[in-house]
Parts: sequence; C-alpha cells; structure tokens
Amino acid sequence: MDRRDFLKATSGLIAGAAALPANAQQAQSGRNVFPLNRGWRFTRTPSDAARAPRFDDAGFERVALPHANVRLPWHGFDEKDFAFVSLYRRRFKLPAGLRGRHVFVDFEGAMTASTVFINGVRLGEYKGGFTPFSFELTPHIDWDGDNVLAVELDSTERADIPPFGDRIDYLTFGGIYREMSLRVVAPSFLENIFAVPKDVLTGQPALDVTCFIQHLASSAPMRLEVTLLDGDKVIAHAAKAVPASAAKAEPVPHALTLTGLGGVTLWDLAQPHLYTVQVRLLAQDRVIDEDRSRIGFRQARFTDRGFELNGKIVKLRGLDRHQTFPFIGQAMPARVQRRDAEILKQNLKCNIVRTSHYPQSRHFLDACDELGMLVLEEIPGWQHIGDKSWQDLSVDNVARMIRRDWNHPSIILWGVRINESKDNHDFYVRTNAAAHALDPSRQTGGIRWFQESEFLEDVFTMNDFDFPLKPPNHPLYLNTEFVGHTFPTKTIDNVERLTEHTLRHARIHDQLASNPQYAGGIGWCAFDYNTHGNFGSGDHVCYHGVMDMFREPKPAAGFYKSQCEPSDEVVLEPAFHWAIGDQSIGFSKAVVCSNCDHLKFLIGGKLVAEADPDRAQFRHLKYAPFVLELPVDINHWGDLTIEGYIGGQRRIVKHYSGAGVDKKFALIADDLALIADGADTTRVVFRVTDAFDAILPFADGAIRFELDGPAEIIGDNPFALVGGTGAIWIRAKEQAGTARLTAHHPRLGLQRIELKIAQPPPQLI
Ligand code: GAL
Repeated sequence: MDRRDFLKATSGLIAGAAALPANAQQAQSGRNVFPLNRGWRFTRTPSDAARAPRFDDAGFERVALPHANVRLPWHGFDEKDFAFVSLYRRRFKLPAGLRGRHVFVDFEGAMTASTVFINGVRLGEYKGGFTPFSFELTPHIDWDGDNVLAVELDSTERADIPPFGDRIDYLTFGGIYREMSLRVVAPSFLENIFAVPKDVLTGQPALDVTCFIQHLASSAPMRLEVTLLDGDKVIAHAAKAVPASAAKAEPVPHALTLTGLGGVTLWDLAQPHLYTVQVRLLAQDRVIDEDRSRIGFRQARFTDRGFELNGKIVKLRGLDRHQTFPFIGQAMPARVQRRDAEILKQNLKCNIVRTSHYPQSRHFLDACDELGMLVLEEIPGWQHIGDKSWQDLSVDNVARMIRRDWNHPSIILWGVRINESKDNHDFYVRTNAAAHALDPSRQTGGIRWFQESEFLEDVFTMNDFDFPLKPPNHPLYLNTEFVGHTFPTKTIDNVERLTEHTLRHARIHDQLASNPQYAGGIGWCAFDYNTHGNFGSGDHVCYHGVMDMFREPKPAAGFYKSQCEPSDEVVLEPAFHWAIGDQSIGFSKAVVCSNCDHLKFLIGGKLVAEADPDRAQFRHLKYAPFVLELPVDINHWGDLTIEGYIGGQRRIVKHYSGAGVDKKFALIADDLALIADGADTTRVVFRVTDAFDAILPFADGAIRFELDGPAEIIGDNPFALVGGTGAIWIRAKEQAGTARLTAHHPRLGLQRIELKIAQPPPQLI
C-alpha cells in the first residue's frame, strides 16, 4: 500500500498502518489496521431489529464506502432527497491471535450523526459529518465468531450539529462518505504524533516530535523511538524511556527532539519535499506499536509584509473549494479528491485553497502536500451559531480537525470561526484557545464579513465582495472570498458576462497586488456547487465557480491560469468563444488572459490586431489581461488565430474555428486504470469541439453511453451537454477486469475508452 494511504491521526484515536491480509499474523509494527470499506449492507428503511447481529440483511443493498445514501441528478433536485435515516451493517471475523488486544473502529466521515452498534450493543452517537470518530469495540468482540457492526446514520440537517440550525449555502448530502477501518492495538499504543519542524531557516533545523501514548491498562516502563526518513533513508533518530504508567483516560504526551538536520530539503511550492516520521513504542525491545506521518520542513508565517514561506513573500492566489461532486455529493474516493488538488495546482495555477466550509478529505490534503499547494482549513459552519452544546461540538471540531491534520505541511492557517458569523466573544475565545493550545506552530484565522468584527485571531481573514476592496484594517490581512454571488456565471452565459466574470477576478487580484499588506486573495470559488433551494440560480446550483461542477473551465479559469510564470507554462486563454452571432459580432472588447507580453490576432490568416497587456487597467498584476477592440467584419469572417509572444519570440499559437460547425466529439478519461474495490472512480469528460479542439459552447446534443465490464456509471445516461461539455464518473465494481465505455454523439459518431480494473488488496470477511 502506498505511503499516502496510511491513515492519518484521527480525533483522539488514531489508525496508522498499512493494510494487512485478513489472516496475517500480528505485524512487525505491533498494530493491525483492517480497512473495512467493502461488503457493507445498506437500507433506507432502518429498524430496531436490523441492529441485532443475527438479523437477516440479505435483502439489503450491498455497498462499498465511500457511499452516498442516494444518487441524485446534478441539479434540480430537492435537498430533502438525502435527508433521511439509513442503516449500514458490516459482518466481519477477526483473524486468530488477536485476543487480549484492543479493537477500535475508526470512521473518517459519515454525514451527519452516527449511532454505532457492535453485536447489538449501542456504543454511542457521534454528532458531526466532517470530523473523524472512533469507538472501542473490545468488550463486545467475539474473537472466534462473526461480529456485526451496525451504523444508524441520521443524514437529516440536525439543528443540534454544526453547520446546521439555520440556512446554509451548500449541501452536505448523506451516507458514510469517507473510509473506515478497524484498528487492533496493544493496551498501550500510539494515539497520535505531532511533528513540528523548527529553526528551518537557520541551517540547524530540528524536529520536535510529540508522541501521544494512550494507556488502557497499567504499563511497565517502555521505550519510544523516533526516526526521520527521507524515502527509505534514515536521516535522524532519537529514543526516550517512557515511565511505567497507571491506566489513564487521556493520552500522555512525550516529547523528543531530532537534531543534526542541517542538510534537510525544505518543503516549498516548487519542490514540496516530504519526509516521514516513524515512531515506535517498544516494551522489552519488542515493538508493540508503530505509527508514521509525512511532514515537510517549512516556515510559514503571516506578517505585516504579507505571507512568508521560508522567509520569502508569496502573494497568495487561490480559490475556495467545496468538496462536492455532481450526482453523488461528497462520496468520492481518494483518486477523485486528489484530482481536485491537481486541477487547482496544475490547471488553475493556484498557490492556496480554502477548504470552505469544513475539514476536507485527507486525500485532498495529501495531494496538496505532494503538489505544493497551501491550505486554509476551517471548521464546519455557515453564519449560524447554535446554543452552548452546539458550540461545544464546534470547539471539539477544532480539536479533531487539528489533531487529524497538524502534520500536513500544506496547512498554513486554521480557520476557527464559523464562516461569516456574528461575533461571539466567549465562543471564539474558546476556539482560538483550543487551536493555539494544540498547535502553537500555526496562526489562526476566522472568516468574517465585517471589518468591525472583534478580532481574536492572528490573521484577519475577510470576505470582501466589494470592488474596490476595503483597505486592510489589520497588519495581517487576507481576503478569503470575492466575486461569488455578486456575479454568478454559467458556462452557457453570453460572452459579455463570461468576460466580465473574468475581469472581476482579475480586478480584485490587481488590487490585492497593489498593497503588500493584502497577503493575497482566495476567490469564490473553484467549482460550481449544489446548494439549498433558497440559494443559487433556482436549480440548487451556485454557479460561482471559475469551473463548472464537472470541473470544466469557464473563461475566468483562464485568468487564474495566466498568472503562472511562462517557465511553468505559456498560457493564452481568450475570455470569449469564437462564434459568429449576436454575442461575438461587434462585441466591444475582446479579453485574453495570457502571460505573454504581446499578442497578434489573425482572422482568416490576415493580421487584424496586435495588443500588449492592459497595464493601464491592471497596473499591479505581473501578467495583466489583454483588452482590445477586435475588428470583426462579417464579410471577412474566418478562423481566428492568436499568437503569443515573449521577448519577441512566438511561444504559443491557438486557433479557433469560425465555421460554427460541431466538428469533433472527444471522450477524455482522467485515468485508464482503477482498483476493483467497489469505490475507485475516475471522471470521463466529453466535449464537442471545433477542428482545433476548442469547446463549442452552444453544442447541446445528448450523449448516450454503453458500459461493459465490472464498472458502473455515476451520472446521467443519456447526458445532455451543457455548454458543449459534460462529464460522468466511472466507478469500479468489486471484480477485476476490463471496462469498456462507448459514448455516442447523435451526429458525430462514437468514442470508446477502456479501463483496466485491477484486483485490490484483500479485506476482512
Ligand atoms: C459567502 C459565503 C459562501 C458563499 C458565497 C457566495 O458569503 O461565505 O459560502 O455563500 O458567499 O458568494
């Protein structure tokens, strides 16, 4: 199993070792972690009887996690459709030889309140859909026979649980939508690891490692060993005696420091170098537990000069992200979560993402670590603050978020206020104190919408939707939302609107670039998202993204992309479609986002215009958009060619057909290989384009799919194109083989792709 698939520390109780075959002996690491994502039985009609171990669940649906309690259309559905109580059951048998050890069940995320039963015994209810939770199963385990876990999952919008209690502008959906596992440990075990690199710029970096040991029974003296690894290579090592302990409810922290790290490679945006911290707990020289976590050596601080990474100012340029997807809500597996990070980094060239408005998938965060993408992570919530017990849950959310994610080098700021809520002194003193106590190495922020708000955090993080922006009212200042609902834009909107959407993002970033005290800006938002009926465009979608829900770009995406250095990629993205008609003939200004310094425009092969970046309008952006009058003459209409020059050299050429003919039908899969675990999924995009592969925004055919082999379609079939494009997702079933997808366009024929679906590692049965 890949290292990134190690389970990260969860709230209070962790899991953290590689998957083992069900019949494996106790591993060298001392712990066993059994992912348990396949073989669940699911019903939408729970009953008390179904919690009992001997209940016959053969009639229930067989499902794999991540799971959505219902599949939905991509828009135009009722938010009540996923708001119901369901029941999940999973039968399992533990391998021999584990008696005497402790068994925990670790859930990474289930929406919204999970009441967990083992062998008919109720263990408790966990309230919260975005944070991990665990229960101990040990006293109720049948070591020799079958065990049955049952989860009664309440996916209604419960007013006692953040973010609910009032209206919110997003949907949470329902289901056990993240992975889970069983963890079998010794009576003393590693509950969590927190590794903090320090003095990273001094030439003498060190690593403070706090190891949290949980004692479930009195223990004899033990020994802790901490090793820093670069791949397989040992970089440093330290050990420490752990005194005998009487059983305690709380994990006991033990601190060690690794020194002599003079040669470590820093984690930065261009080279996000990752190390692994391995921690071993030994009793009489026998390893009784082992855990590991990836880390990066970097110094990340907001100062009155902006945001500094490793002592250098980095102007933050990013987008907010909801982790929801069409048809299935949040129930997407690692591959698809990771893909969003790739899109943000590689397609949108962002350097920061905000996990609005909740802790997001660990897979997404892992990818941010690997790609060099900074993250502002925040607790669940939206404008509403509930009563005392609601606030207690929210403070607990702070702790669970931080204890799960504190080793991610990508995370630079904890968001510890309910997004855009009113002030609440006592509550926010508590959330800030919790964050600072747990993680003194990171600053806090808290996203607000009014500058007069009481400032209890380290960084003033502000949703400012005005233009011009308000001046910073605090030396440490970051804009966390702009544009969004002030200018919703669909891929099918007219050119004037698409252009203005692009310019609004550009104008804000231009102003942010004008003043070093703006640490940067995170625009609303990356991807269109499903929402409640009282928000959005009337079809349960907020069209606020620079990409649509299928992660297909609007022209505003081109602005973000164009801000990268040409050495990364030479970018040239028009904010218009080259289509004859009312929307393009005579349009007063043509906008092109590019990091070139000069553009030439040819129509039908004839040079019609040249342009330089519009530095009059965008005085501060390094790569100002080009704004020009394009002389369009209906009598000399033809293909458009745009040439991009840097330092006099032609570096990029793009062509757009003037024919107005749907020419090509493309089918593009993000991946051609999946794992047969019932959950692994990839996106398949389809587009109708001109002869030069430019999307034709008015193409609206219905695409019909046939799928053979061990996979299923997540999505509409047929799928009516939106703005010339669309996407479905292909999810592997639990058999290995080859899946063949055929897509038929009504006139442009068919396209095929083949996906290889490989055998997954075994799981407990
Ligand atoms: C903000 C809010 C976001 C989203 C956005 C739409 O006020 O924080 O969640 O609703 O508006 O522009």
